Amino acid sequence: MVMMLSSPSVLSFALILSLPLLLLVGPRVLQPHRNNLLITLPDELDDLALFRRAISVSARSNSSTLHHLHKRRKRKIAFMFLTNSDLHFAPLWDRFFQGQGRELFNIYIHADPSAPFNPPSYDGTVFSGRLIPTAKRTQRSSPTLISAERRLLATALLDDPLNAFFALLSQHCIPLRPFHSLYHALFNHEHEQRSFIEILDGEPSLWSRYIARGQGVMLPEVPFSEFRVGSQFFVLSRRHALLVIQDRRLWRKFRLPCFNRNSCYPEEHYFPTLLWMRDLEGCFPFTLTHVNWTGSTNGHPYTYRPHELSPGLIRTIRSPPPNSTTKDHRHGFPYFFARKFSPDCLQPFLDMADSCLFRD
Ligand SMILES: *[C@@H]1O[C@H](CO)[C@@H](O)[C@H](O)[C@H]1NC(C)=O
Ligand SMILES: *[C@@H]1O[C@H](CO)[C@@H](O)[C@H](O)[C@H]1NC(C)=O
Ligand SMILES: *[C@@H]1O[C@H](CO)[C@@H](O)[C@H](O)[C@H]1NC(C)=O
Repeated sequence: MVMMLSSPSVLSFALILSLPLLLLVGPRVLQPHRNNLLITLPDELDDLALFRRAISVSARSNSSTLHHLHKRRKRKIAFMFLTNSDLHFAPLWDRFFQGQGRELFNIYIHADPSAPFNPPSYDGTVFSGRLIPTAKRTQRSSPTLISAERRLLATALLDDPLNAFFALLSQHCIPLRPFHSLYHALFNHEHEQRSFIEILDGEPSLWSRYIARGQGVMLPEVPFSEFRVGSQFFVLSRRHALLVIQDRRLWRKFRLPCFNRNSCYPEEHYFPTLLWMRDLEGCFPFTLTHVNWTGSTNGHPYTYRPHELSPGLIRTIRSPPPNSTTKDHRHGFPYFFARKFSPDCLQPFLDMADSCLFRD
């Protein structure tokens, strides 16, 4: 066998034979995963129109009006829910917002219109009427999640000039502390107007994630040395929300489909990379949303079940790990949200809401 292959004539013969095979198989191999949801031109144009409106409104209200408005009126937190199912924990969030008055927060829901979804359950809750009309299909391992998050940011920017922080959440997220402690923590540092977004480097899978769209594809906009990863769940300042929807340069790259779906988590890269490149000083480089990656499966973090819930667990997941450089690096910020929990955790959480969850 070895002898035969080393013969030059056989080698060239094998090459000639494999040529049509390559042509046949090549385009298939080079095509993105066929189940990958692509961003269509009409969807892209739709988004651009929304972003333009949000940018122009923000630009107009920038100079003096916003400043004065913020001096006169209380600023708000925009809670942005990204979901492809019902919001299992809506009653818990309802309790979280209870008694706050609408002058401190707004809610926006981006729900995948193609997913089974049951908005009527929101009637009579803080969520009723908060679905954003521009929502489009989303799919894991595709840039559609980035689009959905940018849509949420643009909608919240447009909707209320008093929105000062923009918190991204999902149907699996729960609040870990009372509303007032979150509000206090965010606006205590308001002079800095910094975002909370995890920005990590040197993760083992970084290279395979970088080349998930093909070798060299991210260049020249995003060299590997600038490529970052972090939790999808951020709290952005108003300045950064605007920066994100103004971006065209990085989006051109991150919107490309992946060839390798197993390394494809665009939303975990786009936001950390963009903010790392554009305004690291404006960021606290960590997330406020607790997640347990021990025993993760298939890219999903550990999902807590009802029997695991206790005041002890809440205490544990509120604090950053006791031994770590992360504790100093977090400037004393604890976690304010957590994921993931199975939907049947709702009742246990409601039972411990007053005695534990919403008591500091
Ligand atoms: C608002 O205006 C000031 C000066 O007029 C400018 O320096 C600043 O960058 C603007 N902010 C935004 C978010 O556009
Ligand atoms: C994280 O999940 C693992 C199971 O994979 C569990 O044993 C551990 O207690 C969890 N950690 C926390 C802090 O809940
Ligand atoms: C804390 O973590 C560091 C690095 O992760 C490790 O070297 C050190 O031994 C740990 N300290 C304790 C008290 O566990």
